[in-house]
Amino acid sequence: KRERIYLWIATVMLGIFMMAIIYSTLVLSIRIPSDKGKIIVKPGESLVQSVFQTPPFDHPGLYKRGEKEYELVIVGQAWAFNPADIEIPLNSTVRIKATSLDLQHGFYIASTPVNIMLIPGEITVLEYKFKKAGSYRIICNEYCGMLHHAMTKCAGLP
Ligand code: CUA
Repeated sequence: KRERIYLWIATVMLGIFMMAIIYSTLVLSIRIPSDKGKIIVKPGESLVQSVFQTPPFDHPGLYKRGEKEYELVIVGQAWAFNPADIEIPLNSTVRIKATSLDLQHGFYIASTPVNIMLIPGEITVLEYKFKKAGSYRIICNEYCGMLHHAMTKCAGLP
């Protein structure tokens, strides 16, 4: 009889985990790196050197790509994001390309579905259209050590 109860508990738990995974991918749309590319670390080079030699990460920043189209190149590191300040014109579609210099970091733009993982050696790409004016908080939501809690900043949309 006991076994049956445990079996039920295990099944219910499994169900909850599955729901959590489905929820996180569909609703929160947490992106993990896809086949969008990798940082190739050459022999005798550090990851940091390789990142800064791999376009577009040799020039982190916000770049205009067309009418209301931008590319945002983000490099995360303990414990900051580069570029530090981002201003995006309203109603622009922004293609975010991101990677990390050291540890696994998060790049979550509060009150948007932009929630990506920055993984060393990997490139994560996500597109999002900013339709609401305001100041958005960018938060690292992957634990990355001592100053993880301080890895946050504001991005403005005038
Ligand atoms: Cu970076 Cu937490």
